[in-house]
Amino acid sequence: MSTEKIILGIESSCDETACALVNDKKEILASIVWSQYDEHRRFGGVVPEIAARAHLEKCDLLINELMKKANKTFKDLSGIAVAGGPGLIGGVLVGVMTAKTIALSHNLPFIAVNHLEGHSLTARLSHPVQFPYLLLLTSGGHCQVLIVEEVGKYKKLGGTIDDSAGEAFDKVAKMLQIGYPGGPNVEKQAKDGDAKKFKFPVPMKGREGCDFSFSGLKTAVRVAIEKLENITDQDKKDICASFQSAVVKQMEDRLTHAIEIFKKEYPNAKDMVVAGGVAANLAVRNMIQSLADKNDLIFSAPPIGLCTDNGVMIAWAGMERFLKGKQDSFDFKARPRWPLDTMDN
Ligand code: KG4
Ligand code: ZN
Repeated sequence: MSTEKIILGIESSCDETACALVNDKKEILASIVWSQYDEHRRFGGVVPEIAARAHLEKCDLLINELMKKANKTFKDLSGIAVAGGPGLIGGVLVGVMTAKTIALSHNLPFIAVNHLEGHSLTARLSHPVQFPYLLLLTSGGHCQVLIVEEVGKYKKLGGTIDDSAGEAFDKVAKMLQIGYPGGPNVEKQAKDGDAKKFKFPVPMKGREGCDFSFSGLKTAVRVAIEKLENITDQDKKDICASFQSAVVKQMEDRLTHAIEIFKKEYPNAKDMVVAGGVAANLAVRNMIQSLADKNDLIFSAPPIGLCTDNGVMIAWAGMERFLKGKQDSFDFKARPRWPLDTMDN
């Protein structure tokens, strides 16, 4: 009899309906990500009600397709993991109800995963990252630096006092009308732009601690755009490059402080990780790689395709919890807010 453990992971907290099967040997047996971009594009951002309906239409179908793709049945599974929050509540509810139904009808453990923990642990699937590690978690909804001490145990060193980095990327893309979702488009444009052309501020630089701020930078971009009478394609590229460089500089400054704190607290720890949608950005990854090199830390980031929302991250975090004997009751309620540093296990 096979002793392989397999977890099904379901993600529906924002604008991706996703599911995946992962085993305890860190193998991805199958993964499907259905992005709702076409549904939201004409609104320039995610519309929660449209997202919830789209999750409801797709969730079951994608899970069926996933099981066929991996040639598995529900009987082969060890547990069902789902992003139980934080996120848009309509979508989270769809995932949670689906997961509970499968778990109940097949008598399987139900595991509610914090979406942020999904992002945070993914690097341990792709790389041999050890606890405790320093983490920059930067996505559409969050920008924070944490020490990941254990599964379920996070110490927050700092976070954004206004917008997240991903939000800033998305808003800049919207102002420049270069399409939704913003991050990848800004990065693409920035490649052919001059990062020194526009002098954007680097908020928080030089300040104590590890907090972030992006709203002043966003305003500076808006003002620069308004000053240009006829914005050219090259202007757009230069704005993207200058904006991205300001974001990276702020992250570098904040992470320098975080590394000091981390090293003081855990002198023997070695690992540093970036996760979340913005971790797909190569300028961000390259900056953290060189910071890690300078500070004698090992830098790991999930493969680009596992940085933005996906089912693998939920399945893997579910596996980490399952292997520690953690599971949830069917009373679990979907959580629109669920800060990582308030998790108690
Ligand atoms: O983690 P994620 O898929 O969803 C949330 O949990 O929020 O992150 C999505 C965010 C969006 O704001 C998107 O614009 C940003 O990640 N993003 C990027 C890149 N790819 C995605 N930002 C900068 N550069 C990228 N290549
Ligand atoms: Zn996410």
